Parts: sequence; C-alpha cells; structure tokens
Amino acid sequence: MPFQPEFLARIAERRAALRTELATLLPARQAITWEIGSGHGHFLVQYAAAFPEKFCVGVDIIRDRLNRSGKKRDRARLTNCHFVQAEAREFFDALPPGVTLQEIWVLFPDPWPKKRHHKNRILQAEFLEALANRSGEGTRLYFRTDHAEYFRAVALLLPELKTWQLDPAAPWPLEQETVFQARAPAYQSLVAIRTSHPATPAETTAPRLPPPVGPR
Ligand SMILES: C[S@@+](CC[C@H](N)C(=O)[O-])C[C@H]1O[C@@H](n2cnc3c(N)ncnc32)[C@H](O)[C@@H]1O
Repeated sequence: MPFQPEFLARIAERRAALRTELATLLPARQAITWEIGSGHGHFLVQYAAAFPEKFCVGVDIIRDRLNRSGKKRDRARLTNCHFVQAEAREFFDALPPGVTLQEIWVLFPDPWPKKRHHKNRILQAEFLEALANRSGEGTRLYFRTDHAEYFRAVALLLPELKTWQLDPAAPWPLEQETVFQARAPAYQSLVAIRTSHPATPAETTAPRLPPPVGPR
C-alpha cells in the first residue's frame, strides 16, 4: 500500500530536523562513541564518566527513557554525554560528513524473536556494512543480548562480512548493569573489530521508512 504524502512529508521533516540537530551537536571529524537503544542511560552515563576523553551519544526512540538518561547525565555533570531521540538508522543517515564511529554499543536490543520479524532487528548485514563504512580500522562493536538465537545469528554473520572480525580476547571496558541486563537470567557478549576490508557500498543503508516500535 503506498504511503500518504502527508506521512512521507512528516518523515522528511523529522529527518531534516535531526540533520540540523546533529550538525550542531557533532562538529565535523568528531569520532563518537555511539550507543544504539540507550534505554534509561545507565550504561552510557557511567561510560562517559569513566572515559572523559570520549564523546558519547546515546540514541533511543522513547522520549521518557531519554529524559531519564539526560537527568542522570546532568546529575553527573557530564559534558561528553548526549542523548538524541531518533531511530538508529535515521540517526546514522543524518550524521554530518566527516563524523566517524569510534565505538558502537548495542546492549540488549529488541530481539524480535519471531522469524517473520527478524527483518526488524537492528544488527543485520546491510546495517553492519553501513556501520563499517563510517568506522575506521580498529573501531569496536560491542554487542550483548539475552536472546541466544539473536546472539548466534550475529556471531555467524560478522565473519561473513569481512569488514568485522570477532575478537574473543577483547576486553569489555566497563561493566555497568542496564535495566534489561538486570532482568536477564543470562546473557552473551561479543566484541567485533573493524578490519581494513573495504565495506561494500551496495550493502550500505538506504533511506527507509522507520520500522514499527519494538516489542519491549
Ligand atoms: C530492550 S531495550 C534495552 C535498553 C538498554 N540498552 C538496556 O540494556 O537496558 C531496547 C531499547 O532500544 C530502543 N530501540 C528499539 N528500536 C530502536 C531503533 N530502531 N532505534 C533506536 N532505538 C531503538 C527501545 O526504545 C529500547 O529503549
């Protein structure tokens, strides 16, 4: 079914506003630590406090969680930690030219457990290639989930892409329990490192309509 012009216009407007916001927040050539689905901000606020030299940006689609995150950041008086309301792929597409990803954190992303919903998962080949395009050699991708099948799918996919290499020996630089980690009976983590292999331009992210809001 084709989308109504008013709906498409609202999306275009939202994306333009995001570009303006990011152009102000991120001076060109800034290397950022990006947390996708930063939730209530527990992780990123602690991380930014532990690594004041890093410029940290958390992105989430839920306003209330971002407000709570911002309050934590303000209580900690951090100037290197920012929270932006955006869909992750829209945020990525709106990044100013020259901004690179130094680290990418994906902690307990929505698992979309039903097979027919796997297409909504954030970590998929196309997006991982797009992330690789904005990353320098050595950029680290940190992924943690309590969903065993999602974990396995990503762990199998990454080596296939050649742009990311799993590093089982890489340390987890900071342990800070998140809301969803606290609820998880068990979880698995991986670290992948950007290789020097060129990312395939055909597999980079394209403008798209946002997915529906996640199940949790
Ligand atoms: C399961 S929660 C995990 C939150 C946090 N990382 C934690 O461990 O507590 C997933 C978070 O990702 C956000 N989210 C889901 N899809 C997203 C998307 N496409 N772009 C940005 N955030 C998204 C949700 O709003 C939610 O806060």
